[in-house]
This record gives sequence, structure tokens and C-alpha cells, in this order.
Amino acid sequence: MTNKYIYFVANWKMFGNINSLNSLNNVIKFSKLSKKFKFKLIYCPPYTLLNLFFKKVKKSNISLGAQNSHYIFDSGAHTGSISPSMIKKIGAEYVIIGHSENRAGGESNFIINQKVKSCLKAKLKVILCIGESLKQRKMKLTNKVLKNQISKALEGIKRIDNIFFAYEPIWSIGTGIIPKVDILQKDVEYLKEFISKKYKNSRPKIIYGGSVNSKNIQDLRYLNNLDGFLIGGASQKAKNFIDIVKKSFI
Ligand code: PGA
Repeated sequence: MTNKYIYFVANWKMFGNINSLNSLNNVIKFSKLSKKFKFKLIYCPPYTLLNLFFKKVKKSNISLGAQNSHYIFDSGAHTGSISPSMIKKIGAEYVIIGHSENRAGGESNFIINQKVKSCLKAKLKVILCIGESLKQRKMKLTNKVLKNQISKALEGIKRIDNIFFAYEPIWSIGTGIIPKVDILQKDVEYLKEFISKKYKNSRPKIIYGGSVNSKNIQDLRYLNNLDGFLIGGASQKAKNFIDIVKKSFI
């Protein structure tokens, strides 16, 4: 890794309750090192914990994000949904959009595009998830799939300063399997090249997600074209999460 800030995003998915907040005390302490070692910690807990998380971390170096959002900016008759402006008002700065678990539930590229637009309008930073299935990889369609997901998600969007591209191969999420580091390096290079051609003079921020843990981070950290990691399962225990961050520097 180079001298830039490295982002560690904890995606808690549908896990966690009020008691889980106690585990944050150690992370809050640890976050004091973030300026010195140039890392940023972002927690994306379930909606039910956003408010409590915000109160807990607001004076620390930890930022807050939501795991999804409705595409309507403010409010409306959408039972069970949360809007970008609600997320912003609760104190979150980030939002994950287009996670493959939601795409699998029927979220289309069109809806993802609407969500990205509304979230940017709400001045949230978008963590846009993209990634291919195992079948697509085997058919050598990875680049084509990524290109299509990005082009559709960004339709009509002029600037990408507030977008993080989270490359998450679907076959790697929750499976314990990560891509070979040299192949991942090439895929990330491809993404950087494609995005910076599309957005001249931009420096696209790309993070990797899929089975990151405190062991494989020791290989992943050598990918100097990455800006960070999106971590699911291994982020739920404070010790694991802290270990991942530590081991990516030591
Ligand atoms: P995982 O999840 O780290 O448990 O594989 C990553 C993600 O889905 O964002």
C-alpha cells in the first residue's frame, strides 16, 4: 500500500443489536491511530442501529454509513424504506448501493442508478458495489459485466469524487475464497483504466470486498492500486476488524 488513506468499511449486514455497540469501545480507542497510520474506519450497521452508532462514534475517528437506501430523495409512501435524506440527517456520511445480495433480490441497474443519484444529491458518499458471478468469470465475461454495471449505475452522473467502487466478486462473498492476488491486481487496474477514461482527470477510488480476513489481508495489502476493503463477516467482531487494519500496515 502507498502513502494514501486506506478505507476499511465494516458491512454488518443483517447482524447486530444494542449489545453489539459495546464492542465499539476498543475500535474507538484504536481509531485514534487513524491519522498517524492513514486509515479511515467506516461502520455500516443495520438501520436499527444507525442512531445509536452515531451517538457512540460522533466524537471519534469512525464514520458511519447505511447499507442501502431508497431511490426517492426525501420521503414518500414506501413502507419499510429509508431515504437518502433520512440517512444523511441521522449523521451518516456513506451508503452502500448495489450490493450483490440486493441485486440478487431484484435490484436492477436502473434502480441502482436512481439510488446513486439521490444519495449524491443528499451529499452522501456512495460505496457502489459491482462484481461478477462465478459463471460469468468462467466465461471470461468479468470485464464486460463490470463495465456494464458501472456504465448503467453512473448514467447521467458527471462527477465521481464522492463514489467508491467496491469490487466484490460474488463468488468470493462469504465463501472464504479470494481471487489470486495477481489476477485481482489486473482486474482493479482494468477498473481504474475504464473509469478514468470515462471520467477524465478523475482518480477513481476502488476498494475490494469478499471474504477479507486477518489472514488474507497479509496478501491483499500488497495491492497498491487498492484504496481499501469492504469487510462483511470479519467486521462483526471488533478484534477481527482491528486485526485486519493492523495487519495491513505491519
Ligand atoms: P464477506 O462480505 O466479507 O463476509 O465476504 C463482504 C460483503 O458482502 O460486503
